[in-house]
Amino acid sequence: MVAEIEEKRMKPIGILGVGEYLPKRVLTNADLEKMVDTSNEWIVTRTGIRERRLAADNEASSDMAIKAAQAALRDAKLKAESVDLIITATISPDMQFPSVSTIVQQGLKAKKAVCFDISAACAGFVYALVTAQQFIASGTYKNALIIGVEKLSPFVDWKDRSTCVLFGDGAGAAVIAPVKRNGILSTYLGSDGSGGNLLMLPAGGTRLPPSHETINKGLHFVKMHGNELFKIAVKRLAEAANKALKLAGLTCKDVDCFIPHQANERIILAAAKRLGLERDKIFMNIGKYGNMSSASTATALCEAVKSGRVKKGDIVVLDVFGAGLVWGACVIKW
Ligand code: UT7
Repeated sequence: MVAEIEEKRMKPIGILGVGEYLPKRVLTNADLEKMVDTSNEWIVTRTGIRERRLAADNEASSDMAIKAAQAALRDAKLKAESVDLIITATISPDMQFPSVSTIVQQGLKAKKAVCFDISAACAGFVYALVTAQQFIASGTYKNALIIGVEKLSPFVDWKDRSTCVLFGDGAGAAVIAPVKRNGILSTYLGSDGSGGNLLMLPAGGTRLPPSHETINKGLHFVKMHGNELFKIAVKRLAEAANKALKLAGLTCKDVDCFIPHQANERIILAAAKRLGLERDKIFMNIGKYGNMSSASTATALCEAVKSGRVKKGDIVVLDVFGAGLVWGACVIKW
């Protein structure tokens, strides 16, 4: 039995398929110029964002998650009824409970799947990947469907120019399972609760339950100290990628495709500079979608693979940072 478990542990684990879903409605910087005191020039030069997608009013996070999941299952050639585990990373679930993962299970008819959500903000997709990897490495489950989905638009104060230009809605998914060769080489996660005040949605939970007062004070909207976060994000992204690469026995010179969280183009370029990564190694989709929190890395990975930017044998680094504060990285040989 022990030998069997050890044997299972030795098997490499990788990504069998990827998928994404972006809502149809596009909100451009020109649209935002009509809503708040901002300019296309400010948004592009300070963030790299040109447009973002907004989910329809009747489109919840699980609706987007199901579409991204279906695409990933098709790509992995895995039937929904064969899925063992569904982990959704989200900070914008349909409701407090039940979890998005159980709603996705119902939508996919993934009857035997065990389902739960995780909350790790913009780092969520990598946290979900690492969690799924543990279940598969231990031999508990044969495969996992991981999803990063966010409908952030209802939590954005569309009168606050310092935050409303940044965020968007979308979903990305991946199927994780043992692979014959290559796969996940290393992972690294970090957290520091002392920075929790820098990015939060203050009301709606048990600390400040919803009330007329919390709504009148706008406490159901994202509050962010952008400047402070910026510096920490650059430092933590570089640190996480370096640590994960070291664990894999690699250096930045070995990286073929660097897929960081898409919060700000300047953060990404500054982190890449610290790492000594050339511009052509960096994959970005922030220009089209803005910051979609956990969905950013998920869709970026999907697009990097589908566009042929990531090829078989490439060394891919997923690198994330978000509210909590939480961060992490994962090195994958594709
Ligand atoms: O997702 C995970 C975590 N998120 C992050 O890591 C985000 C980190 N932070 C950032 O990306 C950037 O700090 C922001 C994009 C949020 C802001 O960029 P910044 O270069 O740090 O700008 P700032 O906050 O220092 O503001 C500079 C100026 C201010 O005007 P004054 O005080 O210098 O006159 C702002 O009022 O830009 C002003 N400003 C704007 N102007 C036009 C802020 N937002 C806007 C806007 N349009 N949308």
